[in-house]
Order: sequence, then structure tokens, then C-alpha cells
Amino acid sequence: MPKRIIPIASGKGGVGKTTFAVHFALELSRRAPTVLVDLDTATSSLRNTLRVPITHDLYHFHRKGHRLAECVTQLDGALDRRGRFRDFGFVAGPIHYLEDLAAMGPELRRRLASEIASLPADYVVLDLRAGVDATVLEFLPYTNSGVLIFTPQLPQAAAAAADLVKAVVFRTLRVVFGARSGVFELPGIAAGRELIGDLLGRAEDAYDSSVPSLDYLLRDLRDVYGDHPLVSALGELLTDFRVHYVLNQFDGVEASHERAVVPFVRTLSDGVSARLELTQLGWLAQDAALHRANCQGRPVLLDDEAPRARTAAGDPLLAELQALRSAALGLDRRPSERIARQRTLAVAKDPVDALLGEQLDRLRTIFAGGGGGGVRENLSYCVARALALMQPPRLPTEFGMTQLAPPEQLVRWLLRRMPVAAAAGSEAAGPVR
Ligand SMILES: Nc1ncnc2c1ncn2[C@@H]1O[C@H](COP(=O)(O)OP(=O)(O)O)[C@@H](O)[C@H]1O
Ligand SMILES: [Mg+2]
Repeated sequence: MPKRIIPIASGKGGVGKTTFAVHFALELSRRAPTVLVDLDTATSSLRNTLRVPITHDLYHFHRKGHRLAECVTQLDGALDRRGRFRDFGFVAGPIHYLEDLAAMGPELRRRLASEIASLPADYVVLDLRAGVDATVLEFLPYTNSGVLIFTPQLPQAAAAAADLVKAVVFRTLRVVFGARSGVFELPGIAAGRELIGDLLGRAEDAYDSSVPSLDYLLRDLRDVYGDHPLVSALGELLTDFRVHYVLNQFDGVEASHERAVVPFVRTLSDGVSARLELTQLGWLAQDAALHRANCQGRPVLLDDEAPRARTAAGDPLLAELQALRSAALGLDRRPSERIARQRTLAVAKDPVDALLGEQLDRLRTIFAGGGGGGVRENLSYCVARALALMQPPRLPTEFGMTQLAPPEQLVRWLLRRMPVAAAAGSEAAGPVR
């Protein structure tokens, strides 16, 4: 299986990124070799959550010239008594605060990104820090959000997660419409550089209400360029942009919907776009034992689980996965009615209501489909959904990157989707991963 890089981000701190990243990576490692990397290099919380002797960490990578792969720590017999997590490893942050590691300058970020891509593992999970600066954005893909964590317990967390999505989407658009992108060489668009730059600036500026979101930007562009392929490609770029999220400290379908999903969806659709595709991977229940185990440096998954009744014949995990692929769980690849409508570029009457209805349905489906229950069930549910999303064949926009894609690939991919560019002989390029 090819390697997939899965960043865990939140915008806000203290919402459960590290908790989710650790348990998610442990659970993934039961399927295939997995490495978890601590990129919250200012607080280095992984080494407290997984209390095991560490001989090499990011200090050795950064200051001592070690390869990142040499800084992977595995669990010892004390943490993993029955050897169930032999395929799990993690790269810890430094023991003490180190200014140059905490600040992560461009050179360190570039080296880290390149070594992350060559770690010997099938899955690489990145535990990112809070905020939306380059130390977070550069480890996120251009075409989806990674896994976003927010929680109904902290209402601001939903807005922070939406802000992170906004930052990723605008970073992508800045690349697409950047000085070196070639988009402006397309017939009929050459004079648009200034106009598009101006519209993007207004759409990004939350204080400027003349272009509240990218949906308005699209409308304005359509007014100027009609159905120019660039306009429809931009519409599709937004429709294809995938947001994947997990609710932490979930406290019931209706309450979590009201306190976390609604503000998230509203912030996104008001300030970014109502066209984005939102996929909820599942949730993690509030659990005192989980928190205690975190504090003791021994994640709950490491304890033996109570024997579970296994019903499916053969491989129960496979059976679970196949069941999860069903359209009923919303992971089929056929575009929903909402998206089919959007693809025509028609302006939906109530895009936000449609989005919200879809998300609430999804919450109810997860609840009914076994995603509820305790944290173990929550985790295997999230992992099964994540694995289903990573099944080939895949589009460049899908979950789980195979590399931290360089932006030029994104532009080439976008240009290739435009008939005008294809006719103009735009060179073939590998898809964005
Ligand atoms: N589902 C949960 N139930 C109980 N406590 C949790 C849960 N998720 C996180 N916590 C606790 O909340 C605190 C913040 O979580 P953490 O994963 O460190 O957040 P982040 O990495 O986003 O800063 C930690 O003390 C953690 O143990
Ligand atoms: Mg953390």
C-alpha cells in the first residue's frame, strides 16, 4: 500500500489534536506500519502522552544530522505488553524548549517535509500545533484539510477550525493565481490578473463586505468572463475541496450539532464557500479514563480490551470496512445531489441549510451505525472511515496525501482540467497527491 500522510490540525489549542493523533495512529498501526510525528515542536506533548525511553528525537534530527527515520521511537514492553503495536513508532519533539526548533524556520520545514515523505511507514500521522502560520499550513495539503479537530465544549474551536480551512483554501488560490502559475496565459483571461487579485483580497478580508466569500467572487468572475473554463474550473476546485473533521468530547447528536457543527458550517459558508465538501469522520466521546491515561503517559488503547463478540465471518475488520463503504455512510464517490447541483454552477437557494441538513444526517447515521459508544468504538469507526477514504482509485483532492505536494503540481492539475489549456497543449503532469 502506498504511503499516506495524514495531518491532524485544529486551529485552536487544547481541543484534542494530540489525543486524537496518538490514538488514531495507534489504531492505524494495527493495520499497517504507522509513524506519528510531533510537529508541535514548541510544547512536545507526544513524549508526555507516550512515556517510553527516547534516545533520538527532533533535536537529533535538527542539531545532530540524524535522518528523521533514525529518530523514530517504538513502544517498549512496559507500554505494549503483548506486542500488539509493534508497527507503531513516533518521532518525539525535543525534551526542552529550543528556540530554533520551536520557531521552525523555512529551511527546517523544508527538510522535515522532505524526510516525512521518505519515512519507512504506510501511514504517517502529523500532530500539528495550534494556529494558522507556516509551521501549520506547510504541512497541510493544498486540496483538502487533513483531519480537523474541534469540540462542542469550546465554541470558539469551530470558528478556529473554519479559519484554518479558509487559510488553506486561500493559500491554494494564491498559488493558482500566483505570478508563476500560467493561468493568465489562457486566452481571454490575460487582463484579469489585477481584477482577480483584488477580488481575492476582498474575499479573504473578513472586514470587507464587498466580497463576503468565494461564492461571491465566483459570481463576480462569471459576470465578467461568462462561462470561461477558468471560472468553471475554479468552481470545481471549491466543490472538490474536501474538509474532513472529527468532533472531540462529543456530547450527543443534537447538542454537538448545535454547538460545533452549525457554527463551523456557518463560518465556512459565510466566509469561505458553501461549495466545499464536508466529511465527518466520526467523533471521540468525552472520557475521564482517556484523560487520566493521557496524563499517565499510557494511552487507553494500550490496555487490553475487554473481549468483544465477533460476529462477522473471516476478517471482521475487512467486513467492517466493506460495510462502511456503502452509500448509506456517505463515502461513496457519487456526488450528492447538492454537489451535482453545484457542478452546474447554479446558485442553490439555501446552500447553508442543505449543508447543515447533510451534516446532521451524517451525525445520526454515525450514531446509528455504531460510531457511538465508548472511545474504542469511536476510534475504530474513525479509522475504518479514514481507510475507506484512502482506497484507490483516488482523485488528487482526496484524503491522505502520498507526499506533501509542491504547489506547482496543483496548478498543472487545475490547468489540465480546462479544455482551453488542453487544446493549447499544456504539458502532462503527475496528479497532485
Ligand atoms: N475525549 C476526551 N475526553 C477527556 N479528555 C480529553 C479528551 N480529549 C482531550 N482531552 C484532554 O484535553 C486536554 C487537551 O488535549 P490535547 O490532545 O493535548 O489537545 P491539543 O493537542 O489540541 O492541544 C488534555 O488534557 C487531554 O487529556
Ligand atoms: Mg497537542
